[in-house]
This record gives sequence, structure tokens and C-alpha cells, in this order.
Amino acid sequence: MGKLDGKVAVVTGAARGIGRADALLFAEEGAAVFVTDIDEAPLLEVINGIRAMGGIADGCAGDVTNIDDCQTVMDRAAKEFGALDVLVNNAGLTRDALIHKMTDAQWDLCVDISLKGTFNCIRAASKYMLKEGHNGRIINVASVAGLMGNIGQVNYSAAKSGLIGLTKTVAREWGRFGITCNVIAYGFVDTRLTREKEDQQEEVYGEAVGIPKKVRDLVLLQVKPMTPEDAAKPVLFLASDDAAFITGQVLNVSAGIYM
Ligand SMILES: NC(=O)c1ccc[n+]([C@@H]2O[C@H](COP(=O)([O-])OP(=O)(O)OC[C@H]3O[C@@H](n4cnc5c(N)ncnc54)[C@H](O)[C@@H]3O)[C@@H](O)[C@H]2O)c1
Repeated sequence: MGKLDGKVAVVTGAARGIGRADALLFAEEGAAVFVTDIDEAPLLEVINGIRAMGGIADGCAGDVTNIDDCQTVMDRAAKEFGALDVLVNNAGLTRDALIHKMTDAQWDLCVDISLKGTFNCIRAASKYMLKEGHNGRIINVASVAGLMGNIGQVNYSAAKSGLIGLTKTVAREWGRFGITCNVIAYGFVDTRLTREKEDQQEEVYGEAVGIPKKVRDLVLLQVKPMTPEDAAKPVLFLASDDAAFITGQVLNVSAGIYM
């Protein structure tokens, strides 16, 4: 028996990294998974991969900063699978610069994706989640940068901190429907966002992502890096019945980067 048997889950930013691992794990645990991402080609590979292992999946490309895209995702998930039980707001991006050098575009993009994107998705999902006794689950994805600050990430830290207030408010507003809303603050997960910037040719929204090698090496002197699969396990916990009475919480999953 799977921990999410019969549940319908939407995962944003699911084409790679942590979101992809969430989608695969949810499907293994019996959920019908509807995935979305701005990158269509790797997203289709995730859908096909889940189907190939006998799981239930569908999805469509979409940008979480676009409210119409968010509504389409929620409408299609609910229509195709009959409900919307679990929403994982995972899409995110870094756009690092020291504050005195940060551009408006860098600030706006980072805050729009992480913070406004999460607001857009929750509001779009409300049509399907706000039902008496629904027992829905919302898991937002923040970072220890939102708890402790981080040099070069004023936009990202502010967006991820903002998610904490958003999470607690949704937990209060929707608690009476049996819906929980929690936020995970990750430390260092080995994904495109944390690979060596110098090594990456790929541009995301016109800039290379990743972190400078010397910063990466310093972090890895202190902690063991998580794989996306490691990072997905606490998401499954918060989505499952085991966490039915945990709400409004920040779950620190950082291997001790911040404690
Ligand atoms: N990797 C880490 O160490 C770490 C640490 C703390 C928090 N996080 C958070 O975890 C989440 C997942 O990140 P990851 O490390 O797996 O990175 P990733 O780059 O591997 O995956 C993020 C995905 O989000 C998608 N995305 C970006 N902008 C989008 C948009 N506007 N609409 C829809 N999808 C969009 C990307 O295309 C990508 O597939 C992010 O919210 C990130 O901030 C990661």
C-alpha cells in the first residue's frame, strides 16, 4: 500500500531536480501526479518515466508567474484525475548578486517565481481544495537562506522568507477544511541550482545558474550534500496522513547548515 494511494498531486518545477524526485516518489506511493514546468522537453520525460514504471501521470508546460497558466494546471489536474489533494510549490530559481549590484530584473524574477508563483498556484487551486473535510496538503519550498540570510541572495532570501509568512497564513485560513500548509527550508541539495557555476554552459532566463566553486567547496566542507531523492522524502511525509496535524511549520531539511 502506498502512502498516497488515491490522491491527486500537483508538483511545480517538476522537470528536474527536487520537483522531479517529488513527482517520481509520489507516483511510486500511489498518487496520480500532474506535473508542470517552464521546460517542456524534460517535463515530458518525467511524465513518460512515471508511466513507464506503471504510475499515473500527466502534465503541461506552464510558468508559475502567469496566473492563467497556474489556473490551467489546476483545472486540468482536477478534470483529468477528479480532485486536487496535494500541491507542492517547488518551482524556484536563483539570480544572485550583491545588493548594491542587483538589478530590478534579478530581484523581480526571483521574487515573482518563488513568492508570487506560490501565491498564484494556491489561489488557483482554491477552487478544488476548499471543501469541508477535504484534508488537502500544501507544501511550499523555501531555503535556509530565508531563515539566516545569505550573501548575494537578497532577492532569494526575501522571497523564501516571504513564503514562511504566506505558509502560516494559509495554514490559519484553511485549517478548518483539514488542509495543512507547511514549508520546507532546504540546505544544500545537489541540483542545477547548486552545481559549479563555472562548469555550466546552460543559461536559465538568460543567465548561468549555480554557485561559484569556492563557495560550493566551503559548504561541502561543512555538510553532506543531499540528492533530490533525499530531499523528496520529507515532502512525502508532509503530504501523507502521518503529517495530518502538522501545519504552519517550517521544516528545516539542511543537514545542519543552519540549526
Ligand atoms: N538545490 C538546493 O540546494 C536548494 C536549496 C534550497 C531551496 N531549494 C529550492 O528547491 C526548489 C527546487 O530547486 P532545485 O534545486 O530542484 O532546482 P532545479 O533548477 O533543478 O529545478 C527547478 C525547476 O523549476 C523550474 N522553474 C523555474 N522557473 C519556473 C517558472 N517560472 N515556472 C515553472 N517552473 C519554473 C525550472 O525549469 C526547473 O525545472 C526551488 O524552489 C529552490 O529554490 C533548492
